[in-house]
Order: sequence, then C-alpha cells, then structure tokens
Amino acid sequence: MIKDELILAIETSCDETAVAIVKNGTELLANVVASQIESHKRFGGVVPEVASRHHVEEITVVIEEALKQAGLKPGDLTAVAVTEGPGLVGALLIGVNAAKAFAFAHGLPLVPVHHIAGHIYANRLVKEMTFPLLSLIVSGGHTELVLMEEHGTFKVIGETRDDAAGEAYDKVARTLNMPYPGGPHIDKLAQEGEANIDLPRAWLEPNSLDFSFSGLKSAVINTVHNATQRGEVIKPEDLAASFQASVVDVLVEKTYRAAEQYNVKQVLLAGGVAANKGLRHMLENRFNGTKYDLVIPPLHLCTDNAAMIGAAGSVAYQKGTRGDMALNGVPGLDLEAQ
Ligand code: KG4
Ligand code: ZN
Repeated sequence: MIKDELILAIETSCDETAVAIVKNGTELLANVVASQIESHKRFGGVVPEVASRHHVEEITVVIEEALKQAGLKPGDLTAVAVTEGPGLVGALLIGVNAAKAFAFAHGLPLVPVHHIAGHIYANRLVKEMTFPLLSLIVSGGHTELVLMEEHGTFKVIGETRDDAAGEAYDKVARTLNMPYPGGPHIDKLAQEGEANIDLPRAWLEPNSLDFSFSGLKSAVINTVHNATQRGEVIKPEDLAASFQASVVDVLVEKTYRAAEQYNVKQVLLAGGVAANKGLRHMLENRFNGTKYDLVIPPLHLCTDNAAMIGAAGSVAYQKGTRGDMALNGVPGLDLEAQ
C-alpha cells in the first residue's frame, strides 16, 4: 500500500496566522485561519510589529487546532511546508521558526514555499491543473500574469508597474472613509451603483501585459476632491462601481489576451482580490464558451490561507525542494527562481 503524503503547512506572511493539513497535494484535511484584521483596522492598515506579535501568540494554538481538525499526530505527517516569502520579514520569521522547530522536533523534512506559488496552487484544491496554464494573481501586494508549462515552474509574463490591484482598492476605500481592508467594502458598494463616472484604464503600450493602477487611484482621489471643492455630491456607490469597472476591464482583457498569445489550456484566478464579485463575474462572462478552462477558487481559498501553501508545498516536496535549519524569511523572494 502506498502511504498518503500528509503535509502540515504554515502561512504567516502578512496578517493571517494560518495552518493547514493537505493530503496528497489535493485534499484538505484541516484549514485554520486566525485573522488579525480587527487589530489592524484601527490603524487603517497592517502594522508589522502588531502582526508579528499576534503570530507569536497564535501560531502554537493554530498548529494544535489543525492537527485536531485532521485527527492526526505529528508522527503521521510526511513534511512541514512554510511560506518563505515574499511578505513582512518579522511576520514571515514567526512562521519559518515555528516550522523549523516543529520539523526538528518531529524529524520531518522542511519545505520552503513561495507565497504566490501558494495562491496559484489554491486552485489545485478545486481542480487538477492542465498545462500550459495561465494564472492571474491579484492580491494586496501583487498583480501578475504567470505562465506555467509544468508543475513548479513559473514565468511572469505581466506585472504591475506601480500599485497592486488590492493596494489600489484599499487606498481608494480609505479616500471614501471605509475601514481596512477596503476591497470587500468597495466590491459590495459597487454592486449598488452605476459605473457612470469616466475613469482612466491603463492599457499601456499595445501588446503589453503589464498593469498600472496608480493613475486610476489618483483619478478617483481627484474626482472626490474636485467634487468637494465645487460643493457637488458624488454617489459613493457610483464611484465604487466606476473604479471597479476600470480595474476589472483591464484585468479581464489582459488575461484573455495572454491566454490567446500563449495558447494555454487553463486559466486560474488567485489572490485576495480574486474574492471580488465583479472580477469573478466578468471573467466568467469573458471565458464562457471559449476553449479555455477557467478555474475560480472559493472565497476562503482566495484570501491568505495555509491550504494553498500545503498544495504548493506538496509539489515542491515531490521536486525535492528542502529547507534546513538556516532557513530564513525572505521579504522579496523571486517567484521565477523557484
Ligand atoms: O492575498 P491577500 O489576502 O493578501 C496578500 O497577499 O496581499 O489579499 C488581500 C487583498 C487586500 O488588498 C483586500 O482589500 C483585497 O485583497 N480583497 C478584495 C476583496 N477581498 C479582498 N479586493 C476587492 N474585492 C474583494 N471582494
Ligand atoms: Zn496573499
């Protein structure tokens, strides 16, 4: 009988302390996420020191909870996977050190994982991957189009030149006096409004698969300021809908162009902004009836979690990727060097 591969995965790159257990790379046995959003809300964004302190307080409890959920003992596990980067260095270090201690104490191999590889691999918990595939990653820190020819290899074919999509959402939300993280609030408001305000779309040079959101963000802020100065009222729901339409139009169209250009089989959506209803809806419309197999993960696998690190960790483990006791958190870790 072939023994099941059971990977315990740890993710602490930003403001979620998360631990999951993944069986054979595709089956989720436990998925625990302790969110710190409430603690960061009053500061209007993630405070690195606060994040690290929460991770320290939570990590042991969350590991125990995941083992309990899966009904497993440390001795049953095959390996420990952990987010090595990118992310906040102090936050990454808590997860990396917890993973090293756990791996050392129980004699398990240690597998470092790239956070974005994790976001992409969240899709493998939904559907088996077929190559070549294209992934649109949209999160608080990243906006990238990534091409994969096979498991565990990543080529960035488009990326943001300034703000990430989630960052633009959060900054625009702050202008509209909404709590952190603003993305979900803008998304909700956008459903109630009409996209009747003219805002720019950064297509960049013809054929470019890169993105840019800082001009759009400034245009939204200017629209609000100009209206205030003239004593005019802009409906926040219309502004949210117009902003969302600008972001989503460009994301969807460039993803479609990239799918055509690289003749991929599958198109995956990944990252926190993948929870956006407008984006999910427009992608479905655009890819419906085409030859491309579009996969959109459920909401709880879009925002940061450790299940995705377990799924990516399984592939890295099979490839022989190992970390040792010198493993460190790397805030600017390169995806293509994986
Ligand atoms: O992937 P993630 O959880 O953390 C990073 O790795 O960055 O992404 C967080 C980002 C935040 O900017 C948040 O505002 C955004 O995802 N987000 C959304 C939605 N839900 C989360 N943005 C737009 N619409 C949403 N529904
Ligand atoms: Zn993330």
